[in-house]
Amino acid sequence: MTGSPPLSGATGGVALVASGSARGTQQISNSQLGQRVDTSDEWIRTRTGIGNRCICGPDQSLADLSHQAGTQALSMAGWDADSLDLVLLATSTPDDLFGTAPKVQALLGARNAVAFDLTAACSGFLFALVTAAQFLRTGAMRRVLVIGADQLSRWVDWDDRRTCVLFGDGAGAVALEATSADRDGLVGFALRSDGARGNCLNLAQHNERQTLVDSASHQVGGYQPISMNGQEVYKFAVREVPAILKQLLEATDTAPESLDWLLLHQANQRILDAVADRFNLPHAKVLSNLAHYGNTSAATIPLMLDEAVRDGRIQPGHRIASSGFGAGLSWGAALFHWQGPS
Ligand code: UT7
Repeated sequence: MTGSPPLSGATGGVALVASGSARGTQQISNSQLGQRVDTSDEWIRTRTGIGNRCICGPDQSLADLSHQAGTQALSMAGWDADSLDLVLLATSTPDDLFGTAPKVQALLGARNAVAFDLTAACSGFLFALVTAAQFLRTGAMRRVLVIGADQLSRWVDWDDRRTCVLFGDGAGAVALEATSADRDGLVGFALRSDGARGNCLNLAQHNERQTLVDSASHQVGGYQPISMNGQEVYKFAVREVPAILKQLLEATDTAPESLDWLLLHQANQRILDAVADRFNLPHAKVLSNLAHYGNTSAATIPLMLDEAVRDGRIQPGHRIASSGFGAGLSWGAALFHWQGPS
């Protein structure tokens, strides 16, 4: 699915006006992980760029992280929660499999908003951003809060050194507002899925069969911890992310050197650097906070965005190319302008 412009018949645009973020309260360093599995700070930093990760404490939920990030975004936007039409929560680690967005809506006090979850793993935030933009462009909604949040610490096998060193917990939120087509901040997007390659990164159900009555059985079980073929996912990322970004930049007639920032899913510093090199972009234009948080799945992009907005790196009018990728397999890219609060 590619869009630039995304919908025939769309009349309006979408402005990205504010952001917020939250992280798990417990910081765990590489050296601390080395107390549990056979790894080292040197191995993790060299192979991934990760130095620390933040993990939720026993009393911190996904709804808490999302609420905190959402509250910050509303505050930056200067909006009452009542004015929201939609709370869209991108997550693969809900507190409740029936959905966590309504809980977040209640915590925010967004009484007039519909709220639902969207699941697309590490691509979730980008997919949610594009989904929300459709409601705003068609005029169906005026104000939307898109949250990307994940609490992968619940689903990591903390004795598997191949995966446990990579992930952390976090949330990021972006406030979006309908605007006129000539002020549209979402310049273009492209989204992709390939379920045929999905088995290289899973958080799959494990079922056993139990007899229900004489002639019928049912399934009981739970979820297995994250399993990943790291090398396959790495190859997928360094092949598909540059390809989809190239396609998007060409479709929107955007020269790579005109970008202010490259904002990629924070999975591995080597992937970030490889993508930047493919476009001859200086590494200084590549936003990275991997060293502090690791891979927070759907949260990485808005968490990084919020950090760079708050420290002044991202300024109103900046042009940002973003790409998310991960389980599904799923991947996508979006080109947008940051507007900031008015
Ligand atoms: O958001 C989802 C997207 N996920 C990703 O983007 C992940 C993409 N993949 C990667 O980032 C990399 O593949 C990893 C960081 C996961 C792994 O790096 P790698 O350079 O591909 O390492 P490898 O899997 O080829 O393993 C190399 C060696 C192995 O030892 P042997 O067989 O050569 O003796 C591993 O057992 O490193 C070993 N190893 C470790 N050693 C110390 C694996 N994990 C660790 C570890 N500490 N934590």
